[in-house]
Amino acid sequence: MSFKLKSVVAWGRNADEYINMFNITSADMECKIAGFGDGPSSFNAEMTAKGADVTSYDPIYAFSAEDIKDRIEDTRNIVMEQMSQNMDNYVWTNFKGLSDLENTRISAMNNFLLDFEKGKKEGRYVAHSLPDSIDLPDKYYDIGLSSHFLLMYTDLGYDFHIRAIDEMLRLCREVRIFPVCDLDGRDSKLIKDVIEYFDREHIVDISETKYEFQKAANKVLKITDRNAANKN
Ligand SMILES: C[S@@+](CC[C@H](N)C(=O)[O-])C[C@H]1O[C@@H](n2cnc3c(N)ncnc32)[C@H](O)[C@@H]1O
Repeated sequence: MSFKLKSVVAWGRNADEYINMFNITSADMECKIAGFGDGPSSFNAEMTAKGADVTSYDPIYAFSAEDIKDRIEDTRNIVMEQMSQNMDNYVWTNFKGLSDLENTRISAMNNFLLDFEKGKKEGRYVAHSLPDSIDLPDKYYDIGLSSHFLLMYTDLGYDFHIRAIDEMLRLCREVRIFPVCDLDGRDSKLIKDVIEYFDREHIVDISETKYEFQKAANKVLKITDRNAANKN
């Protein structure tokens, strides 16, 4: 297996952040949701505790909680150092400062770690790398989410994105990707071509979100399968 845990940005957000990034409504909470690249976020743990139906997919789930915890510690030092050097690139309204941010993130990732082994046994955390196909029927999920992975890591390239989103759309009636900018906060260089590709067969929409931490990262891309949308 070529996937290396050491190469991963093991950093995770909480469910409130997901809810605001993806404009998740109370009706959405009743849906079957898949998160792709959820990593050590506490979205699954917190949503499951509220009775929601969430499955998370990420290559790091092939590793043990102990290994992931170690990688989180390494990532923590790198991320917090970078953040301290680039404070002006962020909007400090929801977080009161660096230590508030660090505490919130660590608390989210601890929630994830506490839930991980149990959730893995229950099939809620599945080791999987996009764009590999998943052995489930078409439209098994209502909503597929990608937070801080697709569109952001532009080096993965156009073909990777088309294959990844194609598989997500095969599995889900609707796909939401946040944000639509790259790691530097500029519009992702892939966004125009990705929209052009999916606009042919699907309903594509970009809307603003209440969530904005990285400056200008306040838009979510929604791609809805035209046939699935017509069935509503
Ligand atoms: C920056 S983290 C974001 C974690 C979480 N979505 C959040 O917003 O809090 C990016 C995640 O993408 C995952 N990832 C890397 N390559 C992937 C792939 N090919 N398919 C799915 N996820 C991948 C990483 O393991 C990591 O957990």
